[in-house]
Amino acid sequence: MSPKDNRILVLDFGSQYTQLIARRVRENEVYSEILPWDIGEDRIKECNPKGIILSGGPESVTKSFTPRIPQICFDMEVPLLGICYGMQTLAEQCSGIVSASDAKEFGEAKLKIEQASKLFEGIDGSNLIDIWMSHGDKVTSMPKDFILIGSTESAPIAAIQHNTKDIFALQFHPEVTHTSIGPAIFTNFLFKICGCNKDWKIEDLITRKVEEIREQVGSNNVLLGLSGGVDSSVTAMLLQKAIGKQLYCMFIDNGLLRKNEVNQVKEIFEEKFDLNLKVVDASNIFLRHLKGVTDPEQKRKIIGRTFIDVFDNESLDLNCEIDFLAQGTIYPDVIESSVSESKEARIIKSHHNVGGLPQEMRMELVEPLRNLFKDEVRKVGKELDLPSELLNRHPFPGPGLGVRILGELTQDRLDALREADAIFIEELIAADFYDKVSQAFCVYLPVKSVGVVGDERRYADVIGIRAVETVDFMTAHWADLPYSFLSKVSSRIVNEIESISRVVYDISNKPPATIEWE
Ligand code: XMP
Repeated sequence: MSPKDNRILVLDFGSQYTQLIARRVRENEVYSEILPWDIGEDRIKECNPKGIILSGGPESVTKSFTPRIPQICFDMEVPLLGICYGMQTLAEQCSGIVSASDAKEFGEAKLKIEQASKLFEGIDGSNLIDIWMSHGDKVTSMPKDFILIGSTESAPIAAIQHNTKDIFALQFHPEVTHTSIGPAIFTNFLFKICGCNKDWKIEDLITRKVEEIREQVGSNNVLLGLSGGVDSSVTAMLLQKAIGKQLYCMFIDNGLLRKNEVNQVKEIFEEKFDLNLKVVDASNIFLRHLKGVTDPEQKRKIIGRTFIDVFDNESLDLNCEIDFLAQGTIYPDVIESSVSESKEARIIKSHHNVGGLPQEMRMELVEPLRNLFKDEVRKVGKELDLPSELLNRHPFPGPGLGVRILGELTQDRLDALREADAIFIEELIAADFYDKVSQAFCVYLPVKSVGVVGDERRYADVIGIRAVETVDFMTAHWADLPYSFLSKVSSRIVNEIESISRVVYDISNKPPATIEWE
C-alpha cells in the first residue's frame, strides 16, 4: 500500500460541527480536509489520508436513501472515527441496529468508561466524565465484532470500537468544548491511532505557499482586487512576499466605505509595505448608478455590476500585461460550494471580491488561502506583520454602507452614516467592547422624527445601532451593552450630526432578524 499523506479526511454528513472537527485537527498541527460523503470514491482515494473522521448529520439512518459511508473508506484500511450520525451509519453498515427515538437528547451528559481503549488513553475513567450530546436516534444493538467502551444513562451504547481494527465511534461530540475529554480524544486518535505528525505550522505554511505561488506564476504579473478586508489583505501580503513587484493591487473606492478606510489602506499597503497599489475613486460612478434605487437586492446587483465594470476598465489601464487574477477565497467558501454541489468547485466570492471577472478576463486564478480557515488566515497575516486592527476587524459587507441605508443612497445620508458609525466604533474601542462583540455598526433609517434643538423643533432622521455576538454569523444574539455606554454613543451622535435627531438600539436576535437591516 502506498504511504499515506499526513492528513485527516473529515467526511461530511451535514453537521453544523463539521468545520469545527476539521479545525480541532488543525489545532493539533495536522492538516485536515473536508469532503462531502457523496463526493465520489476517486476523490477520497486521491486525498490519501492517514485517518477518516465521519461527522454528525441531520438525517436518520432508520430512513431509506439517507447518507452512508462509501465502501472506499473501509477498503483504504485507515483508522475511522464516527461521531454521532457517523457512529450510527457506521454501526448500521456493520450489522448493528440503530433505533429512532422521539425523545431527542440535547446537552450535557455523563460518560462512563466501560473498557480501556486507545481512544481513551490517559483519561481518568474512575469518575463519570462530562460530555455533550445532540441526537435523536441511537445504536441499540452492537455491530458485529465491536466492543463497548463507553456508556451514558440514556445511551447505553455511547462509545464503541472494533475488536481488531482501528475503528471507533462516539455518540457524543468530542469537538465541542463542553466535552471535557475532547482534546484527549483528538490527540489519541491523531497521534496514537493514525500516527500523524505535527507538520501544519503557520511558518512552514507561509514558506510552502510562497513556493507554490512562485511556481504557479513564474515571471508573470498578478492582479488583486484589494478590499481592505482580512482575506484580500492577507492574500496581498503572501503574494508580495512571493513575487514582490509582479503584484498589482487595485482598491476601488465605491463611496460606500467607512470613514478613513481609503487612507488606512493607502497607509498600510502603499506606505508601509510598498505595494504596487492603484486606488480608484469611483464613488461618483457608483452613486450615479444607484440614484433613485431603493430595493435592497437591486442595490446589491448594481453595486456588484458597477464594481466589475470599474475593475475591468481600470485593469486595462495598468500599462502592463496581467496573466493571473488573485482572490482571497478561503476554505469555508470552498466547502460551501463543494457541499452544495457535492463535488469540488471553485466559487467566486460575490460583491467586493471581483465576482464574475475570471471568465470575462480569461485569467488564471491564484488563490493562496483556498485551504485555510479564518483563524489560520489571521495567523498568517500576523506572521506577515499586518496590523492587528486590520486582522481583527469586524466583517464588513461587500456592498458596504449601501445596505446600511434604508431606501435611496444619497451623499448626505452616506456622510451622516459614516460619521455615526465612526463615533460608535470609536466608543466601542475606547470602552474595550470592540473585541467582545462580533460585529457592530450603525444603520441609517430615513424616518422623520421630531427633536428639539434650542427652542426649535426639528424633524430629522434616525440612526439605529446594532451590535451582535455570534460564532458563525448564522445565528446571533444582540449584544448586552451597558445603558451608560449606549447613552454616551447616542448623545455624541445627535450632538455631532445635525441631520440626526434620534438614536435607537436594535435588540433583535438572528433569527428571526438578520444581522444587517437590508
Ligand atoms: P445577515 O444580514 O445575513 O449577515 O445576517 C450575515 C453576515 O453576512 C454579512 N453580509 C454580507 N456580506 N455581502 C457581503 O459581503 C452582502 O450582501 C452581505 N449581507 C450580509 C453581514 O455583514 C454579516 O456579517
